Amino acid sequence: MLFDLIIKNANLALTGNALSATELNCHYGASIGVKDGIIIVIWPAEEDIDGSATEVIDATGQWLLPGLVDCHTHLVFAGNRADEFARRARGESYEQIAAAGGGILSTVNATRKASEDELFEASVIRAKALVSQGVTHLEIKSGYGLDWENEAKMLRVAKRISSELNIEISSTYLGAHALPPEYRSNRTGYVDAICTEHIPKIAQLKLAETVDMFCEGIGFSEAECERIIKVAKSLGLKVKAHAEQLSHSGGAALIAKHQGLSADHIEYLSVTDVQAMAKNDVVGVLLPGAFYTLKDTQKPPIKSLRQEGVVLAVATDLNPGSSPIGSLLLVANMAVNQFDLSIEEALWGITLRAAKALGLQDSRGSIAVGKRADLCLWPIDTPEQLIVEIGLHRPTKMWSAGQEIKL
Ligand code: NIG
Ligand code: FE
Repeated sequence: MLFDLIIKNANLALTGNALSATELNCHYGASIGVKDGIIIVIWPAEEDIDGSATEVIDATGQWLLPGLVDCHTHLVFAGNRADEFARRARGESYEQIAAAGGGILSTVNATRKASEDELFEASVIRAKALVSQGVTHLEIKSGYGLDWENEAKMLRVAKRISSELNIEISSTYLGAHALPPEYRSNRTGYVDAICTEHIPKIAQLKLAETVDMFCEGIGFSEAECERIIKVAKSLGLKVKAHAEQLSHSGGAALIAKHQGLSADHIEYLSVTDVQAMAKNDVVGVLLPGAFYTLKDTQKPPIKSLRQEGVVLAVATDLNPGSSPIGSLLLVANMAVNQFDLSIEEALWGITLRAAKALGLQDSRGSIAVGKRADLCLWPIDTPEQLIVEIGLHRPTKMWSAGQEIKL
């Protein structure tokens, strides 16, 4: 057979498709054949390669892993919130800063003012930072526009990042991120706009495939979120939520009730929430970068999540306020060091389990025959180094659907 690409003599990790894997499923000195963007065959070390290819890469001594998946980012935004980092260092809380008109709304202000080109130029740099460290699939949310024009602008910028960098993205509409200033005295009016204007247009124009919401005291109530979920689902969109980040606000149970993709943050999750998530196959997305930046002390109940069999992913939450962090490997390190994940859980959490948080586990997130050839070649002795050693590793080559990614 003539392949498009053969990568030979690589050490493979994160192979197979078992979401419950406890090992890294390594194969030493193996080779893979890629055609039309798909992994067609994996030859173990003892087997001869059967076929030729347009391009053959000799990976002797290197590790081939699936491309990393960052399943929760807000990387399209304008401006910065460096001042808030300093304010928190002086003792103000994230909620106090938000109540005083800072926080998300300050980024909304800057993002509304930016032209589409300016927003693209500022945001693509952040996407490159993630991709240069092995991310081949990114989720990007709106949520700093809040009116239709600016939410749509953000989502168009996300699509432009995807074509510019030759990486695949998942787009998420997050209109329910904060109450925009023009609706300050009319909450219901804004939720009406989300439900009757924005979400129908998102579905019609296919600007996003998923709807997210910030279910929180400083965000949106359980009742408001449920209304949004019902509209989104009726129009064929998937749902997920920022849930139980700063308090127990009911978002995780709501997502479980409506069989959404994931509940993200989940520091204040209750035992019944954990059970509901397990029962409804909702992924728990851990965002240790936000936990770290906001100096939180309440940790997600990892033991009970693990015990009940909730699939756990890890993501950057890259945003200007609560998680200004452009490194998926760094937050994976934090998930181990702060939340007590195992290194294996962290590596699966930024690959196959993150793909599941986006509904893509059957075709992305691991090395297996039939999967999309989103791959990274790493010059390391052992895959654990990627998690343990901070800021030291870059892939030597990366592919998205078998096409080399060149930054
Ligand atoms: O995931 N919690 C709400 N949204 C973001 C923060 C956004 C911001 O502070 O700009 C988060 O932490
Ligand atoms: Fe977030």
